Parts: sequence; structure tokens; C-alpha cells
Amino acid sequence: MTEHLETPGVYVILARDEAGGIGRGGNLPWQGQFPEDLHFFRRRTMQTTRPRSKNVLVMGHRTISTLPPPMHRCPKRCVVAMDRDGTFQVPPGVDVETIFLCGGAASLRAYMSRCERGEAPWPDGLILTTIPGVWDCDVHVSDEMLGVGTQYVETDSSQKNGIVVRHYTFKSLF
Ligand SMILES: NC(=O)c1ccc[n+]([C@@H]2O[C@H](COP(=O)([O-])OP(=O)(O)OC[C@H]3O[C@@H](n4cnc5c(N)ncnc54)[C@H](OP(=O)(O)O)[C@@H]3O)[C@@H](O)[C@H]2O)c1
Repeated sequence: MTEHLETPGVYVILARDEAGGIGRGGNLPWQGQFPEDLHFFRRRTMQTTRPRSKNVLVMGHRTISTLPPPMHRCPKRCVVAMDRDGTFQVPPGVDVETIFLCGGAASLRAYMSRCERGEAPWPDGLILTTIPGVWDCDVHVSDEMLGVGTQYVETDSSQKNGIVVRHYTFKSLF
């Protein structure tokens, strides 16, 4: 899988099954079955270029409620909740490097709606992992919702053990 550092900015990072499913019953239905995806997420979201800087992981309230405690204690990342209206607050005093919008669907939808209304900056890119198979999810994120093909173009992809990671870049950056 591609391991280069993204330019600091705002990125959506999400794992979807082949039908766009991201979760079921408040969790990942493929939990424990694709450890390389979790390792990839961990590496990507922990990379920083400055020793004291942090990446901000923005998540919806439902997603945060399922996080294991170590995620909250990690020195290179801080977790921030996205509110119903698609806004979030970065804690004061944090030297922020990259902001990762991590889902779930409701929070991403709220944020992308703000972008469409010109109230928030479009994410610089999307990092989308495809998990093999269809996992009977009850929460989905479509390409259309993310603006794949309209706002974002694919700029890189890699594959390992059947898991495909695609990188998309915001069109106006070209
Ligand atoms: N595959 C992946 O990469 C990935 C990533 C993240 C999450 N997920 C999965 O996605 C699912 C969760 O996504 P989701 O779309 O259901 O929810 P979510 O985006 O995680 O959370 C949004 C929900 O939180 C509640 N909320 C918003 N603001 C709030 C506030 N101020 N106080 C209290 N509650 C507030 C609202 O629910 P109400 O309006 O109902 O209160 C809102 O719809 C889970 O299955 C999770 O495992 C998957």
C-alpha cells in the first residue's frame, strides 16, 4: 500500500465494502478480519512531520462511542467529535498537522453539505479503502456523497492482500 505522507490538510479516510458499506450495528462488520486495514489507518493517521504536532481525527458521536480507549490516549493523534451540523472544534493549544474526517456517514454527510454551501473547505483528498466482499452493512457512504468523479479524481491506488486503497484529489488543485 502507498505509504507516502499526504500534504498536511483535510482528508476523508474511510474503509468501505464493495457495496459502499461502512458499518453494521454500530461497528465494523469485518472487525478483526483485515488487520492490515487497521494497521494502514494507524500508520496513516499517526504520521506527522513535526515532533510535537498532532493529527486530528474527526468522528461522529456514534463512531466515537465505539472507540477503544487507546485511541483517545495516542500521543500523535487527538479525537474530536463532529456535531450534527457538520462543525467541529480543534482543542486549543494543539499544533495541528492533518485533519482526518473519519466518518461515520451522518457526520460526513453533514460536513460535505457544509462544503456544498460554501461554509467549510472541501477536503484536499479522499483516502478510500475497499474491503473485499459485501458485509450486509446498515450504514453506507456512496461515491456520489463524497463527490468521487465530480469533485475528486483518482490520483493513486495500491493493493495488498485483496484490500485496495485509492487516493482521490480535489479537482480544483489541478
Ligand atoms: N468503515 C469505516 O471506515 C468507518 C468509519 C467510521 C464509522 N464507521 C461506522 O459507521 C457507523 C456510525 O456512523 P453513523 O453515520 O451512524 O454515525 P456517526 O457519523 O458516527 O455519528 C453521527 C451521529 O451522532 C449523533 N450526534 C451528532 N451530534 C451529536 C451531539 N452533539 N450529541 C449527541 N449525538 C450527536 C447523531 O445521531 P442522532 O441524531 O441519532 O442522535 C448523528 O447522526 C458505525 O457502524 C461505525 O462503525 C465506519
